Amino acid sequence: TLTAAVVPAAGRGERLGPGAPKALRLLGGVPMLVHAVRALATARSVDLVVVAAPEDGVGDVVALLAEHNLLDASPGVAPSMVVSGGETRQDSVARALVSLPAEVDVVLVHDAARPLVPSTLIDAVSAAVRAGADAVVPGIPVADTIKAVDADGGVVATLDRGALRAIQTPQGFRRTVLTSAHAASDPDAPATDDAGLVEALGVEVLVVPGDEEAFKVTRPIDLVLAEAVLARRRA
Ligand code: C5P
Repeated sequence: TLTAAVVPAAGRGERLGPGAPKALRLLGGVPMLVHAVRALATARSVDLVVVAAPEDGVGDVVALLAEHNLLDASPGVAPSMVVSGGETRQDSVARALVSLPAEVDVVLVHDAARPLVPSTLIDAVSAAVRAGADAVVPGIPVADTIKAVDADGGVVATLDRGALRAIQTPQGFRRTVLTSAHAASDPDAPATDDAGLVEALGVEVLVVPGDEEAFKVTRPIDLVLAEAVLARRRA
């Protein structure tokens, strides 16, 4: 029995502004993807990392991981492999799933765009799946009040903040559950996370405490925060 971590990294990152694909943007001089893969590959619970790269960037990502000694296994570091991603995040994850070795029975899915995820969170999610949960997601309380709006910007409802969680990755799954969920999904209505597909099957998803440092780098301000967190870790 093995645990694999799938890393969708094929997004364009348009909300970050013009430039390279998001996963290849630099953080502390190193592409975000390298930070994310290193975090997963050095987590004790992870045996293999599979990256879904932009379709035209597979060779570049292989070279990048090799350059950072993340392609082949070394003491305390799990090996990585690279597959071609797809049009949507869901498609990218599906392409990685079909490439997993038969021995893999637990799958974590982790956004390349969450480069500073602590190893404690990775291992906590893996452990919760190993302990018997079909699907596990990290969540943190939301700081803002969240309102549902219509197309004209009119407020439809104010949601009860106390009952909401902002969901992060890594999300962990029993492999059979995740592959069934992807097989049953509607490619024309892609989900924004993997647990959403599992929920659609009627399978229970467990929320465990997330970590502020697992935040997603989406907008330019997130890069400022990420640089600051990295600098504090290096100090
Ligand atoms: O767009 P969003 O921020 O939800 O992207 C989350 C993750 O999914 C990112 O790591 C991104 O690279 C990845 N992604 C992907 N393939 C796509 C779109 C997004 O692997 N077609």
